[in-house]
Amino acid sequence: MSEDFIERPRKNEKDGAIQYVKQLLEQALEEHRNEDVNKLEEVFRLLQTKKYGLVWEEHAEIVEEEMKTKIPVFVEAVEKKIVGNPEVKDYNFLLEGENLHSLHLLEKTHSGKIDVIYIDPPYNTGNKDFIYNDRIVDKSDSYSHSKWLSFMSKRLKIAKHLLSDSGVILVSIDENEHSQLKLLMDEIFGEHNFIETIVWDKKSSAKGVPPRNMMVGVHEYILAYQVSDKFRFLGEKRDETGFKNPDNDPRGPWRESNIKSTTKPLEEAFTITDPNTGKEYTNTWAFSKESLERMIIENRILWKKNLPKQKEFLYNMRNSTKALKSNWGVFDNQRTTMFLKKLLPDVQFNNPKPLELMKYLIEVTAPENSVILDFFAGSGTTAQAVLESGGNRKFILATNNENNIAQEITFARLKKISEGTEFYKGKDFNLKYFRTDFVDKNDFPDFQLEDELLNYITPLVELEFGIDISNPSVQIILTEEQLGKLIKEGKLEKDSTLFLHPTVLLNNKEAELLSKLNVTKQIIPDYYFGKDLW
Ligand SMILES: C[S@@+](CC[C@H](N)C(=O)[O-])C[C@H]1O[C@@H](n2cnc3c(N)ncnc32)[C@H](O)[C@@H]1O
Repeated sequence: MSEDFIERPRKNEKDGAIQYVKQLLEQALEEHRNEDVNKLEEVFRLLQTKKYGLVWEEHAEIVEEEMKTKIPVFVEAVEKKIVGNPEVKDYNFLLEGENLHSLHLLEKTHSGKIDVIYIDPPYNTGNKDFIYNDRIVDKSDSYSHSKWLSFMSKRLKIAKHLLSDSGVILVSIDENEHSQLKLLMDEIFGEHNFIETIVWDKKSSAKGVPPRNMMVGVHEYILAYQVSDKFRFLGEKRDETGFKNPDNDPRGPWRESNIKSTTKPLEEAFTITDPNTGKEYTNTWAFSKESLERMIIENRILWKKNLPKQKEFLYNMRNSTKALKSNWGVFDNQRTTMFLKKLLPDVQFNNPKPLELMKYLIEVTAPENSVILDFFAGSGTTAQAVLESGGNRKFILATNNENNIAQEITFARLKKISEGTEFYKGKDFNLKYFRTDFVDKNDFPDFQLEDELLNYITPLVELEFGIDISNPSVQIILTEEQLGKLIKEGKLEKDSTLFLHPTVLLNNKEAELLSKLNVTKQIIPDYYFGKDLW
């Protein structure tokens, strides 16, 4: 092959064109031809863009435009607070509104703090499931993929910032956007952070639809990405049945299991000897010679008449888990629909994700104290799965209120789950319900804006710490009198956090006390709204 062969396609031509445009640009700069400079700079930029990757037409979004001039905030719907477990101070959250808005605020409260993000976004089937800028994107829209990609890329970029180092994101999808999503996520999370494409089968597929080419699609995908290699699946618990201790072995319950190998070739056979009887057994074994000799000394071998077995101890099995397979099997996709119909007979929600699928997903990804976010929450299956998985897991759901879904389905479902019904035993949990809103900068000139924003601090503090503000470990102090009273009444807690209005100044005694009690001070509203203010 000739030495000057350059593998990258048409690199020579491209380099030539770049040099030529560079010359033209330099000339235009010298001659102060500003209009030409702008245009040539754009041509220069375009020539340098990379060749491989996902290309799509960027589409602006109404909510994004609004956020440029107005400050996004949350407002609590107090009447929708659920206090099902007053004993604990932890709260879960339901955020009603456009999720780009909610994600923007979550970036202030949860950067690097979410353990698991699961989303089930619109699949862009062309069948009224994807609404963009208040309009349905249907099959006739020639920009349908571009719109979907613009929509998803903005949200996934923020999602990445929210994940902790050991966090994971799982995104449900079907064949309509699977390939696009894979490339998009490779770009945002890095190809090296791709974990697997998980597949699961729907028990029942759409009825009455003639199979395409005599093949019917029954599976969906879940794309899994980490942000660093600190993430680990929690694995599948091993089967612990059949352990007994008939010989009172001090090592505890055990069960018989095979030591013969079924896969090794005969040439690898060797002999082991029962030290009590001298009887020899020649076979292919699942363990090396050294391991078996150690097991004999440790009295772990059961010398059966024909074939020895091993004592497999329960203490060895505890905490041990099996690696997961990427095929998660079959889940009944009608059962959760039926459950919802029974729970909320007056409303309809089609195709929630199977509860059992979501429980499995939580079980294998979310440690007991983790925070799980779903920002396309729909009917709230993720929340029910988190609650049924127990532990001290907490959820944050975000969903818009399309057809009143947030109020009449997501919230109504959670309320029923909290209260319980004749066919569902209630779960004890606490929840706060926030709605998205805007503060228009133009309505509040100068310092009025800062004062106005103070009204929106509480929901953010509550969301960040996962609490109700009546919890004494985090307090908001707006005046010096308030601080004085708190100290006087002995209500200042050790290791607590105080959010202080900028006009609240501490005297020496107060500063000393705060430091003695290891109290963290945060200045409001800069802490949350600094960037929006200036
Ligand atoms: C496919 S559903 C999720 C279903 C959910 N996994 C369940 O089991 O119920 C997607 C949901 O995201 C909501 N959604 C779509 N676009 C949204 C947006 N931009 N902001 C917030 N929610 C949105 C829709 O209302 C819809 O209910």
